[in-house]
Amino acid sequence: MSKFFYLETFGCQMNVVDSEQIVDLLQAGGYRPVEDPENADLILLNTCSVRDKAERKVYGHLGRFKPLKQRRPDLIIGVGGCVAQQEGERLLQKLPFVDLVFGTHNIHRLPEMVAGAQRRDRRAETQFLDRETRKNLFPERSTDGNITRFVTIMQGCDNFCSYCIVPHVRGREISRPSADILDEVREMADRGVREVTLLGQNVNSYGANEPGELSFAQLLHEVHEVEGIERIRFTTSHPKDLSDDLIRCFGELPKLATHLHLPVQCGSDAVLEKMNRGYTREEYLDKVQRLKEACPDIRLTSDIIVGFPGETEEQFEQTLTLMEKVRFADVFSFLYSRREGTAAADLEESLPPQRKQERFDRLLTLQQAISTGIWQQDVGQTLPVLVEGESRQKGELFGRTTWNRIVHFEADSSLIGRIVPVRVIASMKNSQRGELPASVEPMRRTG
Ligand code: 5AD
Ligand code: SF4
Repeated sequence: MSKFFYLETFGCQMNVVDSEQIVDLLQAGGYRPVEDPENADLILLNTCSVRDKAERKVYGHLGRFKPLKQRRPDLIIGVGGCVAQQEGERLLQKLPFVDLVFGTHNIHRLPEMVAGAQRRDRRAETQFLDRETRKNLFPERSTDGNITRFVTIMQGCDNFCSYCIVPHVRGREISRPSADILDEVREMADRGVREVTLLGQNVNSYGANEPGELSFAQLLHEVHEVEGIERIRFTTSHPKDLSDDLIRCFGELPKLATHLHLPVQCGSDAVLEKMNRGYTREEYLDKVQRLKEACPDIRLTSDIIVGFPGETEEQFEQTLTLMEKVRFADVFSFLYSRREGTAAADLEESLPPQRKQERFDRLLTLQQAISTGIWQQDVGQTLPVLVEGESRQKGELFGRTTWNRIVHFEADSSLIGRIVPVRVIASMKNSQRGELPASVEPMRRTG
C-alpha cells in the first residue's frame, strides 16, 4: 500500500528548489503527495530563518501538527531547511512530536532518516559537508511538463552581510561544475522547458573559487546556445560582483530577460558599510546607469531593509532618494530583523518599533507610486509573453513578459510553451490582463 506525504515550504526560491528535490526523493521511495496533512503518513516542513516573521511562522505551523501526532503515533513529522540547520537537536528536545530534523546539506539523507523514524530512531542531521562532496550532490530534478524551471548553479554564500543568517545556515559558497549545469539545461530543453532561471545566493561570483571554471557571463553565453531554451533569467545578483562582462550580456544575448533583481538594501554609504555590502551608493548608481546604457529596456527590482541598527532619518531618506533615482519596477522591503549569530546582532537598536514601521510605510507609499507608473506604461503595448499554463479562470492562459510580470489572457492551451505577442489592456497590482491579436505568430529569440 502506498504511503502519503505532505510537504510545506517556507521562504526563498532556494527552498522551493530544495523542496523539489525532497519531492523527488520521496516519490522514488514510494511516497505520494497529498494536499491535506490529515491524510499524510509523513509531514515535512522546509523552513526559513532569514527573518523573524518567517521563523515564527514555522513554529506556528508545527504546532498545528501536534494533535495529529497524538491521534496517530505512527505519523512521522520532520523539519528541514534553515531553522532545522540552526536549531538541530534543540528542535527534537523542544518539540517531542517531531521525529526528524535535516539540515541544508543533508537533504539526500532524508529517505534513510524516514526509515529510521519508522523504527522510532529520532535524529537530527545537520553537519556541513566538504566542497567536493557537495559539488556531486547538486540535485538533478525531474521536470514533468513545466515550461519554466530553476537550475541551481551555486549554493551557500561567502559574503557575510552583517544582518544575514544565510552564510551561517547554508555554509560556504560552492559553484556547480558548468558541464553539469549545461547537461541539466539541455535535458530540460529536451523535455519541453522553455525558460530557465539560474539560481544562487550570489550568481555573479559564479566560478570565482574554482580555478579554470567559466565566469558567470561566460556561463550565460553557453546557456544561451542551448537549442529550445527561449528565455533565461538569473537570481540573485550582488551589486559588488556585477561585472562589465555581465552588464554587456544584457545587450548581447537576446534570450536574456531584460529584468534584473539587484538588491541594494539601502541608500546610505554609512549604513551600507555597516551592512558589509562592499559597495557605495555611487558605485551602485553607476552600475545601474551602465545597465541602462547597455539595455535601455531593462527594468530593475530590489530588496531594501528598513531600520537597520542606528539608521538615522537622514540615512533613511537617502534610501528614498536612491529609489527615486533608479525607479525600480518593484521593491521587496523588509523591516530589519535581528538574527542571533550575525555580526549586526551586536549592534544596538534604538529606533522604536512604531518609528521603524512608519519609515517602512513611507517607503511602501513611494514605491507603489513608482511601480504603478512603470507597469501602467505597458498598457496598450504588445509584448512577447512566454505562455506557462492555464489560469484558474476557465478558458484563460497565463504567462510572463520579459519583465517577469504575469499576464492573463483568453486563449486555447495549444499556445502553452510558446512566446506569443499579447496586448496588455490593464495593469493591476500583481498582474496584468491582456488579449491576443487576431492572428498569433510565435515570437522567437525575443527575450
Ligand atoms: N532583516 C531584514 N531583512 C533581511 N534580509 C536578509 N536578512 C535580513 C534581516 N536580518 C532581506 C535582504 C535580502 C532578502 C532576501 O532578505 O533584503 O536581500
Ligand atoms: Fe545574505 Fe548577503 Fe549572502 Fe545575500 S549576499 S545571502 S544578503 S550574506
